[in-house]
Amino acid sequence: MAALDKSMMIGVIGAGAMGAGIAQVAAQSGHLVKLYDNRADAAKETIASIEKQLKRLVERKKFTLEQVQQTVANLQVANELADFEHAGLVIEAIVENRDVKQAVFAELESICSAQCILATNTSSISITRLAAGMKHPERMVGMHFFNPAPIMKLVEVVSGLVTSKEIATTVFDTAAAWGKVPVYAASTPGFIVNRVARPFYAESLRLKQEQVADCATLDALMREAGGFRMGAFELTDLIGQDVNYAVTCSVFDAYYGDFRFQPSLIQKDLVDAGYLGRKSGEGFYSYKEGAVKPEP
Ligand code: NAI
Repeated sequence: MAALDKSMMIGVIGAGAMGAGIAQVAAQSGHLVKLYDNRADAAKETIASIEKQLKRLVERKKFTLEQVQQTVANLQVANELADFEHAGLVIEAIVENRDVKQAVFAELESICSAQCILATNTSSISITRLAAGMKHPERMVGMHFFNPAPIMKLVEVVSGLVTSKEIATTVFDTAAAWGKVPVYAASTPGFIVNRVARPFYAESLRLKQEQVADCATLDALMREAGGFRMGAFELTDLIGQDVNYAVTCSVFDAYYGDFRFQPSLIQKDLVDAGYLGRKSGEGFYSYKEGAVKPEP
């Protein structure tokens, strides 16, 4: 099996943090990409924002103007899911909710050809469960990018119980052709990275709850002594507290309430208050203009 041909159109659903990054990666690799979001103007605004960010990288000599123009020319707004009729691969990156994702895949099955690969960027939801009830469950696969997708190399290629080996191989080879470092994973809760990362977040939150140290101290310690690129608090602010909380609950439930994966009330409070992290301007830290990130 080989990577998907560049002539194949890629559909991306969800123009949030991950959908934007995935669309950019596929467009940069030479595919025509159609981006759909059910929020009015979201896809259009996301493409404009990708263009703006890439132009900044031209100033910093990381991209040529031609590369940026080519990438932007490859990005189109999809006004409805029906625009994915001729896609070779559709990657879903919407809200981390099984019912909502399943409804989207059910609709896609009535639109896309039987050859089209249906992939999800879910962080935690079972691929086996998402595929259940589909006409062609063997073409459902996890293609799990990391945030920010244009920078992070790793992609987990996740197979459910009935995912076809050929489909997983094509997605693996496609991710590699897009400059990523793919790994195969079986669909267990949290796959590989989120299985390892959940107790890291949970234990950091317990330290904060017990007032052992504040967020900035704990983050600095993980960076300086632990060698992590980010501590748990700054990382979950980047991920989005809403997304991270949904993933925590999903993994906790899937492991029958295993204490290691237990969500924290601190997370729930942040979500209830709309303190979603960078995307809302406030999370564990403030990202508002003039705000100074506290140093320990
Ligand atoms: P986000 O909240 O930034 O964006 C989600 C987008 O999906 C929004 O623009 C929303 O309007 C749209 N949407 C929601 N329901 C929709 C529907 N039915 N049809 C079309 N569009 C719809 O979320 P984010 O962070 O991009 O996450 C998306 C997915 O990627 C989730 O499954 C998440 O678990 C996963 N993920 C997130 C990572 C992160 O660091 N944020 C990392 C890796 C995976």
